[in-house]
Order: sequence, then C-alpha cells, then structure tokens
Amino acid sequence: MSSENTPMMQQYYEIKRGLSDTLLFYRMGDFYEMFGEDAVTASSVLGITLTTRDKGKANPLPMCGVPHHSASGYIQRLIKAGYKVAVCEQTADPSACKGLVPREVVQVITPGLIVEENHLDRQRANYLMAVATEGPRYGIAFVDISTGDFRATELNSRLDFESEIGRVSPSEIFTLEAGLAPEGYFVTLANRPLSLERAAESLSAHFGVQGVEGLGLAEYPAALKAAALTLNYVRETQKTILAHLNRLRYYNAGSFLLLGASTRRNLELFDSIAGTRQGTLFHVLNQTVTAMGARRLADWLNFPLMDLSAINARLDAVGELTQAGETLAGLREQLDVVPDLERIIGRVATLKASPRDVVALAEGLEQVPLVKAVLADCTATLLGGLAAELQALPALLERIRATVVDEPPLKLADGGVIRAGVDAELDELRSLRRDSRQWIAELEAKEKAATGLNSLKIGYNRVFGYYIEISKAAAAGAPEHYIRKQTLVNAERFITPELKEYEARLLGAEGAIEAIEKRIFGELREALLAEVPALQATAAVLADLDALGSLACLARQNGYRRPLLTTDRSLSITGGRHPVVEQVLSAGQFVPNSCHFDAEHDNLHVITGPNMAGKSTFMRQAALIVIMAQMGSYVPAERAEIGLVDRIFTRIGALDNLSAGQSTFMVEMAETADILNNATERSLVILDEIGRGTSTYDGLSLAWAVAEYLNARRVRTFFATHYHELADLARRHPGIKNYHMAVEENGHEVIFLRELRRGATGKSYGIHVAKLAGIPAEVVANARLILDSIGRKGKGVPRAAAETAVQTSLFAEPETEPVLDEFKAAVMALELEQLRPIEALNFLYDLKQRLRDS
Ligand SMILES: Nc1ncnc2c1ncn2[C@@H]1O[C@H](COP(=O)(O)OP(=O)(O)OP(=O)(O)O)[C@@H](O)[C@H]1O
Ligand SMILES: [Mg+2]
Repeated sequence: MSSENTPMMQQYYEIKRGLSDTLLFYRMGDFYEMFGEDAVTASSVLGITLTTRDKGKANPLPMCGVPHHSASGYIQRLIKAGYKVAVCEQTADPSACKGLVPREVVQVITPGLIVEENHLDRQRANYLMAVATEGPRYGIAFVDISTGDFRATELNSRLDFESEIGRVSPSEIFTLEAGLAPEGYFVTLANRPLSLERAAESLSAHFGVQGVEGLGLAEYPAALKAAALTLNYVRETQKTILAHLNRLRYYNAGSFLLLGASTRRNLELFDSIAGTRQGTLFHVLNQTVTAMGARRLADWLNFPLMDLSAINARLDAVGELTQAGETLAGLREQLDVVPDLERIIGRVATLKASPRDVVALAEGLEQVPLVKAVLADCTATLLGGLAAELQALPALLERIRATVVDEPPLKLADGGVIRAGVDAELDELRSLRRDSRQWIAELEAKEKAATGLNSLKIGYNRVFGYYIEISKAAAAGAPEHYIRKQTLVNAERFITPELKEYEARLLGAEGAIEAIEKRIFGELREALLAEVPALQATAAVLADLDALGSLACLARQNGYRRPLLTTDRSLSITGGRHPVVEQVLSAGQFVPNSCHFDAEHDNLHVITGPNMAGKSTFMRQAALIVIMAQMGSYVPAERAEIGLVDRIFTRIGALDNLSAGQSTFMVEMAETADILNNATERSLVILDEIGRGTSTYDGLSLAWAVAEYLNARRVRTFFATHYHELADLARRHPGIKNYHMAVEENGHEVIFLRELRRGATGKSYGIHVAKLAGIPAEVVANARLILDSIGRKGKGVPRAAAETAVQTSLFAEPETEPVLDEFKAAVMALELEQLRPIEALNFLYDLKQRLRDS
C-alpha cells in the first residue's frame, strides 16, 4: 500500500483488510474487479486475463475483472476450487454521488453458504456445520441456509463426533479450534473466541426465547456453542434477515442408526466406489417427484430410525400407499407440479424472492387442497396426521394471485409484475405510458396542420429526449415558439414547452411505475414473511409425503415386502436380494439368499466360498436391507425379521489412505480396532476378509482372534474369509456358524451358483478366477501345479510364532516328514494323461529345487 493510493484504492484496502483469506469482488460499474494477490489467483483459476493498474508506476498492481451479470458462474468456480468470495457492491447510485461511491460487502460466499439455486444440487441439502468442544463434550450444529434446516447434537467421544460429521457430510466446517475438524473438509476458522455466555445470548436473542432452556440446550453446552457459532457465521456473511432460521432442533445422535464414513462409502449409499451416483442405494430408492422429497428421502437414509413405533408408522403409511394404487398415483400426480417450496421459502425469508418465486409459491399452495383430497380416505395414522397438518393458506394464496401477474418477468425491475386493478395510480401511469405513442402521433398531426410543414415529424433520442424535426429546406417556416436544439446536415431539431412537459410526465411515470411496483411487491413480501413458519410446515409435510410415496412406488415396482422390526437380536432374512445389484442384472438373474441369526444363539457367520462366488454381495445386501427397514422402507426379501440395529460397521476391501501416511494394512487394522472397541450387542458387523494385507500367519491369527472377540460380545457379524481354517471356529463356539457360497465343478470349469448354504467349503478356485480374468494360460497352468504341490503340505497352516502357539495349534497338525509328505501328495495328484511334456519337466525341476532347498 503506498501513500499515493487514490481514494478509491484506499477504500479498497480498507474493505479488503478484514478479508485476507477471501477473494474480494470489488464492484466498479459493470464489472467486479480483483486486485493484487486476489487477481493473480482468480485469473489463473478462472483462466481470465490478468492486467495491471498503474502501469507506468514502480509497483504496478495486478488486476482482473468479470462482468457483473456473469459473476455468479465465476464465483461458483472459485468456490469449487476451494476459495471464499466476498461480494462488494456500490451502495449508492454513482451518478448521484459526489466523489467516491460508497461500497460495502453485501455477501460472503463459501461452499457452505451457497444460496444461488442453480449452484445447488436440487436433490441434496447443502450444510454448513460448526463444531465446538466444551470440556469433554463435542458439539455439532449444522444449517442449510437455502431451506432453514437447522439442527444440533452433542457427542461424548471424538470417534462418535467424527462419525456424526460423516453422516451429515457438510460442505464446510466452521470452528474455533483448527484441529477439531476431521481431514478432508473445507474448514473456516472463526477469528473471535466465543464464550458460553455470549453463545447463549446470541441464540436466545435470535430465537426470541428466554435463555437456553427455551431452546432445549440447557444440558448441551457444546451443542449450544456450535449452534451459536453457526448462527453468527451465517449472520455475518449473509447480511440479511434470516426468517427461515426460526427453529433449532436438538437431536440425540444415539437414537439413529449410525453408519461411519467408511461404512457409508463401502455400502455405496450415495456415491459409488467409482464416484458416480448410479449404482448407489439412493439412486435406486429415489423415486420422488419433487426436489424436497428427494432431500427428505436422502435425510431418512442418513438418519435411519431406531424407534420401533416411528419405523412402524412409516411402514404403515408406505404399506397403505403400496396397496392403494390409485391413491398413490393421485398423490404423485399432484406432487409432481409442486415446486421446490423449501428453497423458495428460504428466499422469501431472506427477502430475495423474485416475482417468479412468488408465483411458484402460489402454484405450490394451489396443490395443497388437491393433495389433501387424495389422502382423504387414508387410514394410516401418519398419512392422516400429515394430511391434517397441511395448510393451504387460502388468504395468502388469494393475495398473491390477486397481486402478481401469472407470468411475471425474472426480476422485479423489469416491470409488469403487478396486476392491473391493484393500484389506481399504477393503472393510470401505465395507461399514460401506453397512450404515449398515440399522444405523440396526435401532436405530430396537430403541429403539421398548424405549421403547414409536411416534413415535420416527432422523434426521440437518449440525449435530447423528444424533439420536433423539420427538414433544412422547410426549417425557416418553424413557428416562433419552437426552440432550436440541434442542427443536422439535412434537418433542424426543435423542442417546445408542451413537448418537454409531456416528456417529463412520461419519464416521471416510468420511475413512478417502478416505485409503485416495488412498494406493492415489497408489501407482498412482508405478508409472505409473516407466514414463513406456516409455509415451512406445509413444505415439510409435502416433502414427507413425497418420500413416503417414493418408498411405496419402489416397493410396488420391485416386489419389496414389509420387514418386521423387533427389539431382540434376531436377523432373519429369507430370500433377500441386493437392491442395487438386482437392478443391474436382467430380471430373474439375481439369486436370492437367506440368512438367519437366532436372537438367542447366533452371533457370527463365517462365510467361505470361492472368489466371485457372491460373498461380498450377500453381506452388503444384508446391511442394506437393515438400513432400508430402519428408514421405514419395504425391503427386497420375501421375509425379513430384524432386531433393531444401532450401528453398522464394515471392514471391506483395501482402501488405501497413503496420503494420510497410513499403509493399507494400517488402515485395515485401524478400522478393525474401531469395530472391536465400539460394536455393541445391537450392532451389525461386516468383515470382508480381514487380515489379508499381512503375512498369512499374522492375518489368520488376527482374524481368528477378532472373530472370537466379537462372538464373545454377541455382536451379529458376517465374516467372509478365504482362511478356510476359520471353519474350525464353529466347532469350538456354538454362536459361530459356517456358511459357504456354493459352486459346481465341471472338470476345470466352475459354475457359480451364488447360493448360500450351511457348512464350510474347502476350496478357493482363485486360479479359476485368474483364468477368467485373462491371466496367461502358462501362468495359470503353473499356478495349478504349485497349488497342487503345496496344497497338500498339511491340513492347515504351519505353526506360527511362540506366543500364538496355543491358537495356531488348533489348525496345525504335527508334521512328521514334511518334505516327503509333500512330494508324495504332489506326485499322487498328477493327472498324467493331461500333462504336457513341458509341464512334466517343470514339475521335476520344481521337485529338485525343493530337495535342494530343504
Ligand atoms: N446372488 C447373486 N445373484 C446373481 N449374481 C450375483 C449374486 N451375488 C453376486 N453376484 C455377482 O457376482 C459377482 C461377484 O460377487 P462378489 O464380489 O460378491 O463375490 P465375492 O465372493 O465377494 O468374491 P471375492 O472373494 O473375489 O471378493 C458380483 O459382481 C455380482 O455381479
Ligand atoms: Mg468379496
């Protein structure tokens, strides 16, 4: 900053001072300009030209700009690239200002604070979250400022806290403590500390309640702090009233089925492993017809219930709609034309509603009685209750319809928003404007007649306004009272007091029309503002109904059945299908499978079977069925009895986390540790081949010990493994049962039956799968030989290290003459008639090598 700064640049630096981490869009006429570092960053991210200000001077300042009318697209790209943007506007009309135009930051935009409709995903909420600690407690609050959805909760452990953040998956986390937000989120640090007292004050003031008791937060100081942080951040950045943030819901995270971040990923609830939306549970479930309904359904999937009566209430409603095909079709038909009321109300509440928003709101309200009528005969308590809560707000609807034209322009300033007949003065001014052409034509005729000048005509331009034009040749005949204004090559232009007076009235009318439209629309907005809570309640009901209708529609289409939820530890699914895989396969291709955990006796199922047999699919399908059931959905099974699950844990595959400095095996063990430390008798655990990432002995021993631990704690567990030794667990523990995925063998060919059967299997067929995958024939043949030769070495895995001797001895048998035994087995297994000479030679070579090594 130099002392030679112009007043404008001084103003710029003044505003920029508090925004060091934010790109400042500084309004100058029709452009937003950026300077200095901001310009360098923005020009490279946006690919726009970087220029300089004060070119000749010693330190020219980098600068770039974007046109104001296309700014929102640029802003969006910067936000996506991880930047924050502050929009600074001219707060007075430059033409009316002497000297410097006053400017002010009117909005700060960050990933969690997007309100522009076309930059938001219609089907997903966009949460800004604040996190805080208070003593040993972790507080979370999050808000979607596009709808006003505002909730808070509090947790006891760091782990639960992180899981809950994963559940909400906010776009941005606001916090006082840098280390509090987990990795991988867009984090904004608060620059001022917040005391509990101040937090309580600002919340009570905003919600107009006496103290935090009124908010239900008296016992949750960490949540209170997080909520106040959220609110303060939103207020500081939005700089507008926030009438839609009229309710803060405290919820108990423990009363919803919890799915940690890795489980959500593994089960592909919202995003597939491939990073797409296709192939996810939500993609299959979502049959909603409104954006609000889609978001509600997503919320139900994020927060599956654990309350039996709440689940059954939803199931009753879904059941009734599933049965009553006509009601369902009628409901969906009426909802289909309902606009995104929640977000429109969000704009109403922040005084951003456009004329089209208001008309859309009316269109939504018009559907309300129709939706109500469709549900008139429904008997399910939930449906009846929802229908009763629907408020049609007829007076408000009537007022909108009577005030605003049916198809208004996008912006109020474009004019023509208010109906004729609403305001007498407006009507008069409009007719004055409408009649102006005729008035001019009449004046022209009158002047022509009076002067007898045939070339006389009346015109208009921006500089002189209305004028009378007479050709040069005839100009001498202009009457006395004509005032000469401009001389052209071929003509002279004049004005008259009468013309100018009319012009003033006309231009005045323009301004007056705009002012009146603005006033009337403003009054309407105020009226809407007063009804925000009622509108929100109605929108919420419509969202619920759409989500329920979606589940019913899904159940009908796919032949889902109603699950039976219980409070014991049973998990019994007959003829279950994987909801997503089933859709990918053609009809009848998917093989249904059953599982049965007896509430009293069963804890752990060991599932063996070859590669590609369907183990992973089967286990995931069980987890998805549980989630769907607890959402209140029908499920892809003939019968499902499910003892309520509090958490689903999964340990699947090897997801590397090398960037966080952890090896594959380290990640695997960390996730396993999480499971062992947190699984309860109510949990469901899916372990897909644990211990794979380390040496066979370590892996097997760990897998064995993990299985015993979970069994001892009576955690319902599916345990898929390629360690066939684990089949012995079932002999030692009654709570552990063996299952396998059946295959049929036909020479060297294997047919996958995808059928789960009792008992263990002894073979892996990994080499067969390798062949299917295109491993060269030579390698496959050689692998078979090696397998044959080593596979018969013993019935189990040899002794491990001394400290695991007790356990490993369970699966290792004493070996007398290991090398000879091995050779005997290998030779006996040779199928001589199928052996090619080269294979025989290889075999001999192999034998000799081993003799030498032993
Ligand atoms: N019940 C089923 N009916 C029809 N096809 C199925 C079924 N289960 C699985 N499949 C198909 O088989 C493929 C392999 O299944 P999956 O990945 O579950 O096998 P896996 O036993 O876990 O194999 P691996 O041991 O290699 O992990 C799936 O991609 C799916 O297309
Ligand atoms: Mg698998």
